[in-house]
Amino acid sequence: MIAGVDNDSVVYLNGEYLRLGEARISVLDRGFIFGDGVYDVVPAYGRKPFRMGEHLARLQRSLKAIRIETGWSAGDWEDLVQGLLARSVLQDCTVYLHVTRGAAPREHSFPTQPVQPTIFGMVSSLSRPAAVNRERGLTAVSMDDERWLHCEIKSISLLGNVLAKQYATDAGADEVVQFRDGHLSEGSSCNLWVVKYGILRAPVRDRMILEGIRYAYLMELAAAAGIPFEARPISRLEVGQADELLLTSATREILPIIRLDGRPVGAGSPGPVYARLRADYDRAIAAL
Ligand code: PDD
Repeated sequence: MIAGVDNDSVVYLNGEYLRLGEARISVLDRGFIFGDGVYDVVPAYGRKPFRMGEHLARLQRSLKAIRIETGWSAGDWEDLVQGLLARSVLQDCTVYLHVTRGAAPREHSFPTQPVQPTIFGMVSSLSRPAAVNRERGLTAVSMDDERWLHCEIKSISLLGNVLAKQYATDAGADEVVQFRDGHLSEGSSCNLWVVKYGILRAPVRDRMILEGIRYAYLMELAAAAGIPFEARPISRLEVGQADELLLTSATREILPIIRLDGRPVGAGSPGPVYARLRADYDRAIAAL
């Protein structure tokens, strides 16, 4: 059972709000059969969504990239997010939005007959990062990025990400640091950042990574804090020699990685760039 979610939780499915225990989809749904769909995760604090417009714009980009037409406007998506939040008892939570190409006979190419996309939404509780993770930091292991070449699409086909996260779990680490052709890509479900001599760097936003909503947001926070930022390919060597290594995601916000492959990152403790961005992120949430 997902944290804070039980069979009585209210979810949205294809035009209706209903109890999770009553929500049903066809086993022929192309999301189930092919992983043919996209999703997004909008964080909310005190039931107020954080960067909702950006999340919904990304959902619409993902839908467009795989040619699913819902006919929904940005306002319709906002109404869904607010509708789910209004029906939830959870305070800090995530709104999970999931759209598939719908149910159709199992044929790889798109259905030839018009099919209604399946639209699903649910609210899950969001535990803000624990003090131990914020103050002591996380551990990670490196691996080759074995995923496909369209990581910019927030696809529900997450097998590569699932296996990457399990690789970390099996190694007793919190996260993976993935490299593609010798360059940093991202974690299993987060973006990665390195700091060297006070400069914050991230991989370029291309098809090899998902552009996290925190990517542009951290750029904003860094600019406001006078921290120089640079997007460019980052080699394994640079990651190995970084002063700080950070991750960002909707659910983990911003956290430091203090050990990589068993070796300390920089001083082996959270650094000053992390501390500044962490404080600014907390302040933005408190001001919602
Ligand atoms: N994942 N990269 C990947 C592969 C991700 O799955 C995520 C987020 C991110 C960070 O994006 P954002 O800052 O918009 O959360 C980067 C979500 C949280 C998930 O799958 O649950």
